[in-house]
Amino acid sequence: MSRKLTTTRSIAVASSALILAATFALSAAAQQAPPAAPAAGAPSPGTQAINVRKAIFTLIGSNFKPVGDVLQGRATYEAVDVPTSASRVAFLAGLLNDAFPDNSSTGDTKAKPEVWSNRADFDKRVKDFQDHSAALVQVVAREKSGSDAFKAAAVAVGQDCKGCHENYRVK
Ligand code: HEC
Repeated sequence: MSRKLTTTRSIAVASSALILAATFALSAAAQQAPPAAPAAGAPSPGTQAINVRKAIFTLIGSNFKPVGDVLQGRATYEAVDVPTSASRVAFLAGLLNDAFPDNSSTGDTKAKPEVWSNRADFDKRVKDFQDHSAALVQVVAREKSGSDAFKAAAVAVGQDCKGCHENYRVK
């Protein structure tokens, strides 16, 4: 019995020493860890940026689709919530300014290297896209129908997609 007690005690002493050591090691690690180090197995910052960019374009695509459907006669203006689609596209376009950081030029991406080597032209296309999608929001609020002004404003946005893809996206 006394032997068992001693053993229990020494286990207790040993484990509190362990806990102390572990606590110390944890706080030391917390103080020393470089702030930008990704957790083991986490995607690199470049991969994360590519994933975010693709998500933005996926949403741009799904939200512009109803507008494209109206333009191409696959849906009537009334059957689609054009104001909602237009304002979502305009919001999402605003996310593109920082969606192409330098560390995201290689990897699982269809963005051509020209995005980074022709930056001034690329940035102008992003700006045009933002301006045209903001203009579409304005026109839709005013016209409230599939008018010629709506069509012209929507076609301008569609041409921004097409023009940028032809120059800056791998087919
Ligand atoms: C300023 C340039 C630019 C404009 C404007 C633009 N895109 Fe893109 N888009 C790209 C690039 C570059 C990629 C490739 C992204 C990648 O793979 O990293 C892309 C990818 C996509 C993708 C595929 C996303 C994926 O998961 O691979 C879709 C869908 C898309 N764009 C739709 C659109 C639509 C719809 C518009 C217009 C309403 C548009 N884009 C406007 C440059 C542009």
